[in-house]
Amino acid sequence: MSTVAGRRVKLSRAGREMKGCCPFHNEKSPSFFVNDDKGFYHCFGCGAHGDVIRFVVEQEGLGFIDAVKSLAAEAGLAMPEASPEARERAAAAATLHDVLRDAAAAFAVRLRHDAGGACRAYVATRGLSAATVEAFGLGFADDSRTWLRAALANHGDAKLIEAGLLIAPDAGGDAPAPYDRFRGRLMFPIRDPRGRVIAFGGRALGDVQPKYLNSPDTPLFDKGRTLYNLDRAGPVARKSQRLIVVEGYMDVIALAQAGVADAVAPLGTALTEAQLALLWRYAPEPVLCFDGDAAGQRAALRAALRALPLLEPGKSLRFATLPPGQDPDDLVRTGGAAAVERVLAAAEPLIDRLWRSETEGADTSTPERRAAVLARLDAHATTIAHPDLARFYRTELRDRFYALFRRPERTPWVKGMGRMAPAPPSPGILRAAQPAMNATMIRQILTGCLVHPALIDHGFERLAAIALPDAGHAALLAALLDAATANPDITASELRAALPARAAAAADAALAGSNQIA
Ligand code: UTP
Ligand code: MN
Repeated sequence: MSTVAGRRVKLSRAGREMKGCCPFHNEKSPSFFVNDDKGFYHCFGCGAHGDVIRFVVEQEGLGFIDAVKSLAAEAGLAMPEASPEARERAAAAATLHDVLRDAAAAFAVRLRHDAGGACRAYVATRGLSAATVEAFGLGFADDSRTWLRAALANHGDAKLIEAGLLIAPDAGGDAPAPYDRFRGRLMFPIRDPRGRVIAFGGRALGDVQPKYLNSPDTPLFDKGRTLYNLDRAGPVARKSQRLIVVEGYMDVIALAQAGVADAVAPLGTALTEAQLALLWRYAPEPVLCFDGDAAGQRAALRAALRALPLLEPGKSLRFATLPPGQDPDDLVRTGGAAAVERVLAAAEPLIDRLWRSETEGADTSTPERRAAVLARLDAHATTIAHPDLARFYRTELRDRFYALFRRPERTPWVKGMGRMAPAPPSPGILRAAQPAMNATMIRQILTGCLVHPALIDHGFERLAAIALPDAGHAALLAALLDAATANPDITASELRAALPARAAAAADAALAGSNQIA
């Protein structure tokens, strides 16, 4: 572990461990520790933590398999892929990185040049400080078809085309020469998690279509697997345990300038599964920001539905709703970081977002329409791959649904209640269970469920809708519902053993009460 980490970080011995300055965030005094016995690293500064494979994955921005290969290569193991072609590919990737780095430098220099005057004026109208321009490496692509091609001529047309910087007109006998893709635009370098430039976004300075032009996918750049600003926001997010997802480059940059440094953006498309997986490597519940207008809210629902199959215990999303018609850039401009923090603090859990989308304004005027809403809620829960989570979603959505449509009905008259002890209530009683029950009936339902746990699952929604005035009874009922949720086939003795102390006490009291009646 320390051999591999030592190649990236200067390590010195500290007791049984090695320590150095963390490669995952900027620091001056070392808080990054490597433990060779246990085979892991840990940073007390930013919380980065993992084994040797994780280290390589995160440092090199490699996939898991590539990381294993890279480690095997470092260890000198025989590699089926250590072929001339593989070496050639690695060399080609290395030169592409060089090409993009040189292009970013050329754009940055051009922004300070005379030719960059209009672009500097545009940057000023967007309220970006010199420090921000510097931090994000912003630049200017000259309004010319030949400027960048000439500036980077040493790399050759083929490499510049492969890097997405030149457009090659359709080949043919006398095809015209390749020309600059980005012309007359403010340039945003897009970096990988290691901070290497892999692509660009370019914004028109005026009302030109398209407003933003991005690099095409290249050997280095896969739009659906990249998040803008992850290299800078990731280490901050590990510390803050919060990661914000906004729509655009300008949103990310405006937030960072206002001190909100843990924001990333996809590259102009809806979040992909790969991007969701990437987000969850940094924070358990990334916060997605959406415009409060109709389109933004549709986009939010779409993101929620895409995430459902991927949810796992402790891993979710939150949804922040911006004032209609404002993006985070607008909001931070008018209300400062405080306004943004307020919006973030009000972010809804995924289940609330889903519930609202399906029920707000829904037509529930007839049983059939109500059933259609319920069917949609169930269908969403069904898309969750994790079995416990799917069940919890289904139960919670159904509980909310029944709570919404609960109507006061008259207390049912049940023949013979109170004579049997403990009385197993029939499903009919559960179906009729209502808030206005008397104490004896409540006790009988509870004891019935204790003795015949199958009734809990059977009458789950009705039971869940009962409001119990007595705190002990309420605790018992909640425990019964939890136990049956975890295991619908639970036996009476398992159920009794599963009750927490307070519910167990209430159970004993209820059972004793029933016996007295008997
Ligand atoms: P928006 O249209 O919301 O722009 O695009 P914005 O971020 O508010 O930009 P400003 O404030 O007008 O400068 C959001 C993102 O969608 C992608 C870009 O990634 C942009 O950051 N996009 C947008 C494109 O790729 N092409 C476009 O023509 C427009
Ligand atoms: Mn904007």
